[in-house]
Amino acid sequence: MNTMAAPATRKRIGVLISGRGSNLAALLRNECGGDVVVVGSNKLDAKGLELARDAGIDTFAVNHKQFPSREAFDQSLIDELTARSVDVVVLAGFMRILTPVFTDHFAGCLINIHPSLLPSYPGLDTHARALADGVKLHGCTVHLVTSVLDHGPIIAQAAVQVDDDDTAETLAAKVLVQEHQILPYAVRLLCEDRLQVDGLRVSIRSVGAGLGRAVSEAAG
Ligand code: GRF
Repeated sequence: MNTMAAPATRKRIGVLISGRGSNLAALLRNECGGDVVVVGSNKLDAKGLELARDAGIDTFAVNHKQFPSREAFDQSLIDELTARSVDVVVLAGFMRILTPVFTDHFAGCLINIHPSLLPSYPGLDTHARALADGVKLHGCTVHLVTSVLDHGPIIAQAAVQVDDDDTAETLAAKVLVQEHQILPYAVRLLCEDRLQVDGLRVSIRSVGAGLGRAVSEAAG
């Protein structure tokens, strides 16, 4: 008798980018609990698209300027992603505001990386704003996406110290190193169904916790 458990199906991950794609690269070089099957962008010349093609990953680019509304653009993204049967969508430097058409469609399986310690500094120019405020700690956040910009249950954060001689550029570089650590980690937790969400609070189930419960329930 074969007593080996069947391997769990790996999740199919879609990644949306707008630029160089260093967070995408971090997802590709680390185990993130699934396979990146497609990379999409709103910028036809996004550097990260080249990186994906070089890695043999399917890509698409949709120019947001060609759509009459944000909703129509979002629907075209949904169509591209669902055509590849993605289970999880990662916003990795995707610089377009998404409407509820998109965020509701992928609710619970949509993750964003943001370069600040949310809820501080949602939006743009986070490093310059943090410096101007004189904060001593800055960082990055990975969160589940809701229809509210840069808001939603926080999965992981990492902090860096702000030094006296930091500029927006040096601070961005320090934060980016941390982004590359916490994004694959958070995507893996989502892909392994280990996130327990209660309002804005996320707790992380230990490996095998679900199985343990199922076994004890069956026993008793
Ligand atoms: C990252 O800092 C990300 O947090 C922000 O945009 C940047 C994207 O960088 N939203 P990259 O394209 O992943 O290199």
